[in-house]
Amino acid sequence: MNTTLSNLRCEYLTDPMGLDVRQPRLSWWIESDVRDARQAAFQVQIGTAPGTVDLWDSGRVESDQSTQVEYAGAALRSGLIAHWTVRVWMADGSVAVSDSAKWEMGLLDPADWTADWIQSTIAGGPRTTAPSPHIRHEFQVGKDVASARLYITALGVYEAELNGARVGDAELAPGWTDFAKRVRYQTYDVQPLLTPGTNCLGVLLGDGWYCGHLEWRDRQRYGDRPKLLAQLHLQYADGSHEVVTTNESWKFETGHIQESDIMMGEAQDLRRVLQGWSQPGYDDSKWRSVETVEVQTTLVAQREPLVKVIEEIPARIAEVRKNWARTDHIFDFGQNLVGRVRVRLTGAAGTTVRFRFAERLNPDGTMYTANYRAARSTDYFTLTGGEDVLEPKFTFHGFQYLEVSGLESVLAENVTAVVMHSAWEPAGNFDCSEPLLNQLQHNIQWGWKGNSLDVPTDCPQRDERLGWTGDAQVFVRTACFNADVATFFAKYQQDLTDSQSDLGQIPPVAPNTQVVGADGGPAWSDAFVICPWTIYRAYGDLRILSDHYEPMKRWVDSLQISSKDLIRSYEGYAGFLGFGDWLNTNAETPIDLIGTAFYAYSARLLAKMATVLGHKADAAEYGELSEKVATAFRRRYITPNGLVTPGSQTAYVLALHFDLLPEEQREAATVALVNDIGRRGWHLSTGFVGTPYLNHVLTAGGRLDVAYRLLNQTSWPSWLYSVTQGATTIWERWDGWTHDKGFQDPGMNSFNHYAYGAIGDWMYAVVAGIELDPEVTGYKRFRLEARPGGGLTQASASFRSPYGLIASGWTIVGDRFVWEFTIPTNTSATVTAPPEATKLALDGKAIDGPTHLGSGTYRLEATWATPA
Ligand code: BGC
Repeated sequence: MNTTLSNLRCEYLTDPMGLDVRQPRLSWWIESDVRDARQAAFQVQIGTAPGTVDLWDSGRVESDQSTQVEYAGAALRSGLIAHWTVRVWMADGSVAVSDSAKWEMGLLDPADWTADWIQSTIAGGPRTTAPSPHIRHEFQVGKDVASARLYITALGVYEAELNGARVGDAELAPGWTDFAKRVRYQTYDVQPLLTPGTNCLGVLLGDGWYCGHLEWRDRQRYGDRPKLLAQLHLQYADGSHEVVTTNESWKFETGHIQESDIMMGEAQDLRRVLQGWSQPGYDDSKWRSVETVEVQTTLVAQREPLVKVIEEIPARIAEVRKNWARTDHIFDFGQNLVGRVRVRLTGAAGTTVRFRFAERLNPDGTMYTANYRAARSTDYFTLTGGEDVLEPKFTFHGFQYLEVSGLESVLAENVTAVVMHSAWEPAGNFDCSEPLLNQLQHNIQWGWKGNSLDVPTDCPQRDERLGWTGDAQVFVRTACFNADVATFFAKYQQDLTDSQSDLGQIPPVAPNTQVVGADGGPAWSDAFVICPWTIYRAYGDLRILSDHYEPMKRWVDSLQISSKDLIRSYEGYAGFLGFGDWLNTNAETPIDLIGTAFYAYSARLLAKMATVLGHKADAAEYGELSEKVATAFRRRYITPNGLVTPGSQTAYVLALHFDLLPEEQREAATVALVNDIGRRGWHLSTGFVGTPYLNHVLTAGGRLDVAYRLLNQTSWPSWLYSVTQGATTIWERWDGWTHDKGFQDPGMNSFNHYAYGAIGDWMYAVVAGIELDPEVTGYKRFRLEARPGGGLTQASASFRSPYGLIASGWTIVGDRFVWEFTIPTNTSATVTAPPEATKLALDGKAIDGPTHLGSGTYRLEATWATPA
């Protein structure tokens, strides 16, 4: 018996720095070389130095809990470093002790912040941009430094340098929150960058979301120019302490970044690069003094992954187009992606080179930019005459193609795409014997990459890029399989809470830019309960529920405003009715039907939350509310023989998936749904609202065959249609481009929209068979229930659960079915073989039905009967 402990996490992070959670949650992975290995007890010991226990000793706790273990020791103060180990006693008698891990607290008390907010004296206007200020300050380090922390943030975006070296590797920090309410600060260990004597801290500011263009409207939504707040804490070896803060003595100058805007792009005059500006001794005698400014907001520590450069993709030349005026070089990266480009080139001094971006090319080979709408998404660089590296700093683009104009020669080998998104950890993979489905999985993952740049967005390219609630709730479950998104969605949940109106309503986008008003309407505002519930289920994270319980309850209560006789978005309601089943194919579903279905569902989710949080009275009240709404739904939309009227696919899907039908009517409803699919030549007609649940409903209703038929469908509308057209991401519309019509309306035609990628969770959960237990959260106990079909001969998925890697892979060769799966230590799974499999043998021993197994890797073999 060999047991080892690994992957010690604090608040989901490895050795985090600058934490402001006063009761952080701890977790560990256990690896064991024996099967059915379970933790029997644990002991966490925490101290202010390695090997000490002056903060907390949990004592031996008889428990199998190895995730979400709440710190319960002495109060944690700002800057404190906690060192921790865990000892685990296994049920089999073995004992393991972890290596030491640590976390460090950030600035917990508003009084810890003694720095002033500072800004340049230059502001643009609602339409005009201003150059990016470089801000610098020199300070002395006269003694040996034991530790140095930079706490820094901006309203806008920043990049910091210390003595000429870049601090950290975050891009576009501090990202996007509702700046009037909160802004996140980042913490960096800068000790290695300090030198004895004079040092210089330099910070370059950009407009970002704070004062650049947001969606299709003007600049300066939150403020007129970027602002900086920074505090450098120096702990000297002799025990003394010093803090260097932003204040009125800092100086600024503008340099090469003439303008920079997320939607519009960036313009750099490379002749104006301020060489050495963040080095000590740089002559700033002509620089101007900054202004200090009062800012009302709350500073919180960054907990979720920062946006980073994730990978680089080389270009190939697609076309060189010459006309009398200029030469355009068009490059293809072979992947629709989000980020920026880096181009090395040489040209005459003073020449301006232009970068334009596109997701697709027009039939004549030119850049298809019409779908960017008002997002200019164009970068300009004025050259020095020597070799230049052209790369914007404070913008991002969504593109597959790059057009470089202004030079006769640009070599593809000098052109690189730089992919950027929040640096979440990848969690899952899926593959199978059908290459088109593997490409679909690829497209789902790239749709998520492109739309997880700090905020879960609808699309990354046009003048929108917003945290659309509907899109987020549609995709969240699939996101949980593909990536570790617990903290990403915890941050989004805070964005949602920050966006709540006085009446309790939740708008269609968060952070809230007031696109249509206070209420996002059915299936959009419901993200407020669906997303956290999904995170709670997938990670066992109770805190995302408890932290937002009261706001969520207020939101469910607010649904009374848009409801009459429990029918939500009722005909005649004067407020915002909602977006309906957005982008369905000739199959509208009444908005009140959608509204009422989601009302029942969301009230039920709240009741479940109340139950797990121990709010008994609420659980009963909202459970009853949900029942009442379900009754109103049945009365209004269900005929006595189980038909939904009007009966779109989405109407059936919602009635079935949200359990709004009496048991005896489910079959008739499933038959009606299948008939509609059949009448459409085995095509779906669902929009954003119905699509995520469609295959689940068919599977639950005994029509796995139809679910696979839809999955394998290649003609429009279907998941694979865009794949057959060479898509590398999920499209916004089923028919973004078709042979007969060409491009859809450029007014709304994104080629990188994750919503329809929500089929991904069905691929993991049903095709490969990895699914949560209905009663247990976080995969402590889960289900393995592979359902082969659709002509696939192989499928497998793996997934980093909170306890370790879950894997499930099956093959069918002739009449042999072989299924191998892995259950992580300290978890168990209920394993159910597909009904087509008979004569089951688990690791060579006959079994006859579902079986409950502890950890280990297993092999199940069976005789396979292909269904007629
Ligand atoms: C966005 C969607 C969003 C919708 C609301 C669109 O412009 O791109 O994905 O959910 O508006 O209907």
